[in-house]
Amino acid sequence: MATVQPQSILEQFRWRYATKKFDTSKKIAPDLWRSIEEAAVLAPSSYGLQPWKFLVIDNPVTRAKLREVSWNQPQITDASHLVVFCRRANLDTAYVDRYIAHTAKTRGVSHEALAGFRDMMLGSIGTPANLPGGAMDTYTRSQTYIALGFALAAASMLGVDACPMEGFNPAAYDEVLGLAPLGLRATVVGTFGYRAGDDAVDPTRAAKVRFAHTDVVEHV
Ligand SMILES: Cc1cc2nc3c(=O)[nH]c(=O)nc-3n(C[C@H](O)[C@H](O)[C@H](O)COP(=O)(O)O)c2cc1C
Repeated sequence: MATVQPQSILEQFRWRYATKKFDTSKKIAPDLWRSIEEAAVLAPSSYGLQPWKFLVIDNPVTRAKLREVSWNQPQITDASHLVVFCRRANLDTAYVDRYIAHTAKTRGVSHEALAGFRDMMLGSIGTPANLPGGAMDTYTRSQTYIALGFALAAASMLGVDACPMEGFNPAAYDEVLGLAPLGLRATVVGTFGYRAGDDAVDPTRAAKVRFAHTDVVEHV
């Protein structure tokens, strides 16, 4: 399998930055966009349970409403694509059984063969205080950020700009998008598109600020 050169990855990661001003005239091509969505779908999760849903907000009216509850940040309406990364509010037996059924079908194995795996997952989610993070909400929330990270990384590899965003009112997002009845909660936002030529903070105008590698990474 062909692999990407380390230098290419780092170049793309140095090229990316949290885009403040998108070029409103540029749209991400559908096949490119699809691969960014797919990168998020392929993100790892605890037991593979995928405790999330990614809402791509195509409707401009909805995007305008979301901008109002996002400190009026322009990326919400101006980026080519807006994704609200939602976590599942709860994981229950029905959800685990859906996952088991899907696994059995995908791998061509019997439900019986997966019984131990099912019991293990039900044991974990049945005692949320013992989950990593000590609560169901922390457990599903933290994993949702991994999906965002995959989408951001994929975008940068593809020369697509992005801005991860937490500067919004999550309860208002839940309300605007009608998430509670779906068992979902807005967690973090990703905006994707192409930088405007005059974005004041692109890396040609504002150097990337990172602590030294030796400050951040330690071999022990
Ligand atoms: C979880 C998270 C939330 C963020 N929220 C916002 C936001 O609401 N608005 C914004 O303009 N940038 C936001 N950022 C972007 C950061 O400010 C930016 O990533 C950081 O300053 C480092 O700069 P760089 O990504 O350009 O290297 C967020 C980043 C992360 C990871």
